[in-house]
Amino acid sequence: MQYDAIILGAGAAGLMCAAVAGQRGRRVLVLERASEPGKKILISGGGRCNFTNLGAAPDRYLSANPHFAKSALARYTAHDFLALVEKHGIAWHEKTLGQLFCDGSARQIVAMLMADCARGGVELRCDSNVAEVEHADGRFRIGDDSAPALVIATGGPSVPKMGATGFAYELARRFGLKVVEPRPGLVPLTLGGEDVLFRELSGVSAEVVAHCGKTSFREAALFTHRGLSGPAVLQISSYWRPGGEVAIDFLPGSDAGWLPAAKRADPRAHLRALLRAHLPERLAATLAERCSIGELGRASDKALAAAEARLSHWRFHPNGSEGFAKAEVTLGGISTAELSSQTMAAKRVRDLYAIGEAVDVTGWLGGYNFQWAWASGVAAGEAL
Ligand code: FDA
Repeated sequence: MQYDAIILGAGAAGLMCAAVAGQRGRRVLVLERASEPGKKILISGGGRCNFTNLGAAPDRYLSANPHFAKSALARYTAHDFLALVEKHGIAWHEKTLGQLFCDGSARQIVAMLMADCARGGVELRCDSNVAEVEHADGRFRIGDDSAPALVIATGGPSVPKMGATGFAYELARRFGLKVVEPRPGLVPLTLGGEDVLFRELSGVSAEVVAHCGKTSFREAALFTHRGLSGPAVLQISSYWRPGGEVAIDFLPGSDAGWLPAAKRADPRAHLRALLRAHLPERLAATLAERCSIGELGRASDKALAAAEARLSHWRFHPNGSEGFAKAEVTLGGISTAELSSQTMAAKRVRDLYAIGEAVDVTGWLGGYNFQWAWASGVAAGEAL
């Protein structure tokens, strides 16, 4: 069969791209290796799909070229996607920090995309694991199907248990496109060495500020039996590099000098009890013990100042991350230097496109990655 475009991958980006191109009159074939479309959409946001973020500005995306995402994100915004959601009568709510979720189920988002694909006459073929693409005489051929345009929308290798692979990179390399080394993003960090004692706090969480270099996030952190997780840590993990440190402020917003001042107010007070006013009991006990401070009156002001500094900048040296198995996204990917930021088309291979997570653009936690999938999908869909 001959088509105007073949899209590889019926995930968020591929379905959006197909719907837009189909509704523009293009004959579109989508090939999907799984037995149903949009599997990651279905499990996202705890089954409610955090489908966008009202704060989806380009500075909330990581890429070797931080300017690349600007054009697509400006032309298809969170409000545009929200308008689509509302047009389809899907009830939604804002949770926190601009994160928008379905009231009902992530299935509604997949159904919405499928309805728009149907409206555009898109042909979707599931259980089609693409391994080879031939390219000759200006056409891309996959088995008996061919088209003058091909879109790589096969995502990244995060959560291989769900069938995710690095196929996008393999294919891009075969076409001579550079790939920025992929690594796990939005992923729990593991602790070893001296930090290993914190694993005993498994299950304890607290609102903290997590820092890595100049970047910081104020959200919840969670201790796990392997290390650190929770939104603040997942966010900072995208900025962390092996060998680097992550600092946690356990008492965000506390005034400088609060601990010596607490001693003057009540020398018989215990650090553990003071911490307990802000932190869960087990965490307060561990931190006080690690600071080697009990009754404040028995500690020098210098020791209290040192403990205060430590509590607001507790250095962890993660010995790794939980890897692609647990990573919500993949950092790196097809180099943006190879692509047009307007259309997502490869500069060096005519009518080859790459969109979504396959590309070296990765958002923060909280709906940013779907917004990139929608925006890049629309950019390519309008160019096909
Ligand atoms: P996506 O992975 O969605 O789709 C790629 C498709 O290509 C898949 O259907 C795959 O089967 C198919 N494919 C792969 N290889 C193929 C081949 N060789 N041949 C044919 N088909 C092939 N983001 C967010 O913004 N809000 C959220 O709530 C969440 N929640 C979330 C939870 C969990 C557990 C994970 C793992 C991830 C999230 N994310 C998220 C991230 C989000 O799911 C992700 O960024 C998008 O799904 C990326 O969309 P893509 O279409 O690029 O890839």
